[in-house]
Amino acid sequence: MEHFGIVLVSRTQSRLDDVKQEILRKSPNVEVRTIKFDFTNANLEDYKEVIVKQLNGLDKYVTWLTQILTKEFSDTGITFQVVNAAMVATKMNGADEAMFIPSPETFAKQALNSVGHVSETNGSTPKDLKQLAGANWAVVTGSTDGIGKAYALNLANRGFNIVLVSRTQSRLDDVKKEILRKSPNVEIRTIKFDFTNANLEDYKEVIVQQLNGLDVGMLVNNVGMYFEYPDRFDKISGGTKYIRDLTVVNILPVTILTAEILKQMVPRNKGVVINISSSSSYHTMRYVNIYSATKKYVTWLTQILIKEFSDTGITFQVVNAAMVATKMSRADEALFIPSPETFAKQALNSVGHVSETNGCLAHEIQLYVEKYQHRLLMDYHRNNYFHNSFDYFVVIMLFDMQYLSATW
Ligand SMILES: NC(=O)c1ccc[n+]([C@@H]2O[C@H](COP(=O)([O-])OP(=O)(O)OC[C@H]3O[C@@H](n4cnc5c(N)ncnc54)[C@H](OP(=O)(O)O)[C@@H]3O)[C@@H](O)[C@H]2O)c1
Repeated sequence: MEHFGIVLVSRTQSRLDDVKQEILRKSPNVEVRTIKFDFTNANLEDYKEVIVKQLNGLDKYVTWLTQILTKEFSDTGITFQVVNAAMVATKMNGADEAMFIPSPETFAKQALNSVGHVSETNGSTPKDLKQLAGANWAVVTGSTDGIGKAYALNLANRGFNIVLVSRTQSRLDDVKKEILRKSPNVEIRTIKFDFTNANLEDYKEVIVQQLNGLDVGMLVNNVGMYFEYPDRFDKISGGTKYIRDLTVVNILPVTILTAEILKQMVPRNKGVVINISSSSSYHTMRYVNIYSATKKYVTWLTQILIKEFSDTGITFQVVNAAMVATKMSRADEALFIPSPETFAKQALNSVGHVSETNGCLAHEIQLYVEKYQHRLLMDYHRNNYFHNSFDYFVVIMLFDMQYLSATW
């Protein structure tokens, strides 16, 4: 009953007080308020003055209640969803439709499309990740640069102790110092490990033994490799060794470390596992062959684990990121290319709300458009929205440019 409050409404104050006392005796952590109101009174002004004013102060009530019911019924076939809507063009607020003010029809259609996918839409309140994790340590692989480093910094800022795992000790030490400068109250450990090494004994000796001595509540499987440049399978730069390394680094750590950390999380029935995948897992992408295929593995594995552990307190999330401005992508920040810091912050705010995400708003929009572009074009074409073939050409070009920027 965490944070759960009750508002009792009846017409006799003494009886309200009795019930309040009884509830507090049985559930001392609950907040109880009373409103004395006689419902034979049909006067709207009285309703507003006596009841509505008080309830408006409890704006979180509906959201909290739904979140609690979502948890309580998580092992049943019943789906709950709370819709934290922003402005919709209705009589209530007198607003006209605009870019960010949808019609009630559009709003209802899109909200209903999300039922069953997410239990909370427009979930603007980030979850307490420490509470979801149930333990103080977070492990981040590939954490000396890019997305992994940004996750580590952000998690330290949220109060987690961090285990940094990467292959270069000097860079690990630098990141440790940077985190401690920004979050002096956390503890940082470093593990030097080259994930091209697939030897299980080395995994155990260098990583697992250390992690077994810590209460690990969160694992961020971030480490990954990409190509020098995309090419046909038989021409991949670096040859078979590079092919082997790419396959091993993108698949093995996420699999082995998740298996090992679950040994702690399952008895605790709490924990968070975040797997960084890629939007390239959505397509069978020519010339990005092994990268796309291995990322499909990461996405697919996480989706399976989400199902297998759905009746436990362990939270899984797969992050199908599009382009982020890191060394790997060699891209600069742009409208649809966030900094790793922005990306990590937004992605971490979504943990516990959604089990699958593109990580940040820019990527959600980009990939939503990509996913629905053909359907949109067909709809527009069918409804004769294009005034002439030039309009059509321009829209196709825009979609194609957007598609290219999404995939390269
Ligand atoms: N950037 C993007 O646009 C993008 C898009 C979608 C998905 N992703 C995914 O996001 C993850 C992070 O990518 P990023 O762009 O942040 O990469 P990045 O900037 O190149 O950073 C990679 C990190 O991984 C470490 N690393 C690389 N190879 C390693 C190995 N063999 N053993 C141990 N550590 C190793 C590096 O550490 P050291 O070099 O210091 O050892 C570094 O800390 C990857 O899984 C990637 O596939 C990235």
